Amino acid sequence: MGSFYNHAEKVPATRTLSVTSGKGGVGKTTLTVNLAFTLAEMGKKVLILDGDIGLANIDIFLGIRPNKTLEDFFAGEERLNDIIVKVNKNIHVIPSASGLTDLKSIDVYKRKMLMDEVGMLETTYDYLIVDTASGIDENVQYLNSSVQDVLVVITPEPASMADAYALIKLLHNNHKVNRFSVVANKVLSEKEAKDIYQRINRVSDRFLNVHLSYLGYVPLDPKLRQSSDQKLICKARPSAASSIALKRIAESIGSGAEVGEVKGNLQFFWNQLLSVA
Ligand SMILES: Nc1ncnc2c1ncn2[C@@H]1O[C@H](COP(=O)(O)OP(=O)(O)OP(=O)(O)O)[C@@H](O)[C@H]1O
Ligand SMILES: [Mg+2]
Repeated sequence: MGSFYNHAEKVPATRTLSVTSGKGGVGKTTLTVNLAFTLAEMGKKVLILDGDIGLANIDIFLGIRPNKTLEDFFAGEERLNDIIVKVNKNIHVIPSASGLTDLKSIDVYKRKMLMDEVGMLETTYDYLIVDTASGIDENVQYLNSSVQDVLVVITPEPASMADAYALIKLLHNNHKVNRFSVVANKVLSEKEAKDIYQRINRVSDRFLNVHLSYLGYVPLDPKLRQSSDQKLICKARPSAASSIALKRIAESIGSGAEVGEVKGNLQFFWNQLLSVA
């Protein structure tokens, strides 16, 4: 890791991961809130960053109504600490606003603001989970290149696979991200999950110098399509097939398998400042 990283012996501190996808509506926010819930149940402190700027909906999934959001923070009107919503003891949220246009891009100045204040948060977290927007815009690239682990959500739809590949390619080519974890959502069986993982893995293996690992799957579950208070399905219906699958994914994250190498400024920042705090 070189001299750039001076506190390697003090890690792990906060483990940072993003939940992302090329195509929209594949289940990123569902995965984010349920992973957070399960990790919190395991006694971990989790901070969710709603990175879907402009279309924020972590708040709806968790049933919270933030007064202040990242918009106020970036406008210099609030400290990051003061916009954080404490859903409960172990789940805290950095909320985003909906319908903003001027935050479409988190520019270099705002990135620095965010990094600076993240290091001054009152709570030390075990996990930072960033729920990104779908697609390949600047914010999505920035957030994904700033975390240790990028979780790419795919579904069996051909467009989801193609768009996920496009995102992986871009993050690899432009930001040197070379490890990805894949979650297959809305599948009919574990076999279908492994099939679609194999498909994207084969293409990535052939054309890109990246490593994709299979993190798990969530079955297509009609219960998840119902009202929005069912979105936190691990809480609402812990014995549903999707809850069991989501829990399994959280457990494999919680078991702390591999943590990526240092590659992004946010990650570097988190590790460095929080591990020496
Ligand atoms: N395993 C599943 N089975 C059935 N429905 C699901 C499943 N996972 C997610 N959904 C449903 O799919 C819809 C989209 O999910 P979600 O909002 O989590 O996706 P997203 O990737 O965050 O979308 P966006 O790109 O708009 O942010 C929601 O109605 C959700 O309830
Ligand atoms: Mg979402």
